[in-house]
Amino acid sequence: MKIGLIGYGCVGKGSYQILKEKYPSVIVDKVLVKDKTKERPSDLPITFDVEDIISNPEIDLVIEALDDAETAFIYALEILQQGKALVTANKKMVAENLPLLISTSREYGGRIFYEAAVCGSIPIIQNLNSYYRSEKIKSISGILNGSTNYILTLMYDEGISYKKALKEAQNKGFAESDPTLDVEGYDAANKLSILCYEAFGEYVAPDNITCSGITTITTATIELTKQENKKIKLIARGELQNGKLVTSVKPEIVAPGNPLYNIDNENNSVLIEGEYAGIQQLSGKGAGSLPTGLAVVGDVAKALSANKEPHVVTIHDL
Ligand code: NDP
Ligand code: HSE
Repeated sequence: MKIGLIGYGCVGKGSYQILKEKYPSVIVDKVLVKDKTKERPSDLPITFDVEDIISNPEIDLVIEALDDAETAFIYALEILQQGKALVTANKKMVAENLPLLISTSREYGGRIFYEAAVCGSIPIIQNLNSYYRSEKIKSISGILNGSTNYILTLMYDEGISYKKALKEAQNKGFAESDPTLDVEGYDAANKLSILCYEAFGEYVAPDNITCSGITTITTATIELTKQENKKIKLIARGELQNGKLVTSVKPEIVAPGNPLYNIDNENNSVLIEGEYAGIQQLSGKGAGSLPTGLAVVGDVAKALSANKEPHVVTIHDL
């Protein structure tokens, strides 16, 4: 089985490594990158021409892990229009274009998988699509961005400045190429948009999500909350209020006992509140090469499995 890989950065590398280690029968036939001056492993099947992947009749599945949502969207449409399976980690691209991506996949028989786009290694999309299909979800909330949680943790634990902590998050590969997406809350809004679609069957464009980030939080503010044994967390929330879906991303003060209080560093956590099961929580690494690579490869395995059911069937389609 041959597949194509678009992007060989933090996520692309992690996905490639796990595929090699766990699925030696899956051949990554071509790897698309942009920069001709970067050093790459000598055995990496590099290409600079996307058509080597999209128009290649031997490739039925493409992993997309670009840091450029606009280019990724152009490629995604072409891949789906070819009837191929697309596995993407690109939450900005998915969140901004979800209705069109889904209608295109349905029209042309392509399939789209985006577990890696939401909360790194946490299998939240597949759980919403299977286990929670039977639940009446009332709210979905949590810490959806690893970089901001990492920054807030360093500021709290080590008293270092916001600027220094952001640099550390960038060095670890957690932050977006444009870190404004992380620190202004837009990345969490993109993930919340996808989660709301999966949980409630309602598409809320990320621009319509009330959003504020962590850029104005100082070490002095953190110190004050610390004196009260509290923490600041960037929390995304989608909840039904009188039958209407209300969404937001904003920093909140949490006290010990709050299920998000001990979610630190680049970890993410999602709380699902339902009528039947009450509140359940899924937590784990929300960013990074191998945690996100695991989610990508999980989708690859799903796409290549005998079950060719389109991913986009949710309870709302039944
Ligand atoms: P990186 O910046 O590390 O890597 C981006 C890759 O895309 C590079 O290999 C780059 O090529 C390639 N690229 C960019 N533009 C083009 C283009 N026009 N043509 C060909 N190749 C191109 O990004 P990440 O791996 O961190 O992120 C990738 C995606 O995954 C993003 O959408 C991000 O939001 C998402 N994501 C990231 C996570 C993380 O922890 N980092 C976690 C979950 C999702 P070159 O190598 O030549 O520069
Ligand atoms: N920049 C993102 C984050 C990557 O920090 O959560 C994972 O989606």
